[in-house]
Amino acid sequence: MAGVSARVTPIVALDVANTAAALQLVDDLGDLCRFYKIGSELYTAEGVAIVRAVQARGASVFLDLKFHDIPNTVRGAVRTAASLQVRLLTVHAAGGRAMLEAAVSGVTDAGSDCGVLAVTVLTSMDAQAISSVWNRRVTDMQAEVLRLTQLAWDSGVRGIVCSGHEAAAVRSRFGGALETLVPGIRLPGGGHQDQSRVVTPRQAAEAGARYIVVGRAVTSAESPLAAMKLVLSDLP
Ligand code: C5P
Repeated sequence: MAGVSARVTPIVALDVANTAAALQLVDDLGDLCRFYKIGSELYTAEGVAIVRAVQARGASVFLDLKFHDIPNTVRGAVRTAASLQVRLLTVHAAGGRAMLEAAVSGVTDAGSDCGVLAVTVLTSMDAQAISSVWNRRVTDMQAEVLRLTQLAWDSGVRGIVCSGHEAAAVRSRFGGALETLVPGIRLPGGGHQDQSRVVTPRQAAEAGARYIVVGRAVTSAESPLAAMKLVLSDLP
């Protein structure tokens, strides 16, 4: 597995309220992290300026707004996001094939090489939560993730988002041509909070993740720098 895990890129989730808190983290982590995720909370507060501010620190941005709308709207949203020079962005696989294809077209429209990642099943959801949303009995989460990954693959996206529990199955069915991003990362012995399907950095790497997203394990730590060092040292 060493060849696979050597390619894992850690991304820290800037799930904080404002620019000052976000840039404090970016500055604290310095060279230990060069790739940040900007999600709904921070983007809603600070908009495009925070994307530019993180990029101005020399770091790459993953814009995690998880678009899920009609194809025309998603195409326009992705076109605009991709033109910000973000390296990755997300849409929900459950938006369906036409929406996913529209997302890929939005990147082409922008003349960008931004990767579209399709979120399969949120890592906060377990089989019971999925069953109640979809009104059918779901017991095999891996089968649901593989089903949505097939849809994403057929639509031409760069990769998918799944938990570390399904990443190895995705990797073995679709190979390295489909990139896998794994959130829900916890240091060994760390609390789950609202996440259901968590893994350690090492487990995600060994399952074939291309990217791991680390949020509260680093950002809520007493010392984010020390926690980030633990993340990096856990990677094989
Ligand atoms: O703090 P924690 O590590 O749980 O944060 C996980 C991050 O990954 C959050 O920003 C969340 O929005 C994101 N995410 C997720 N599950 C997905 C996709 C993204 O938890 N399927």
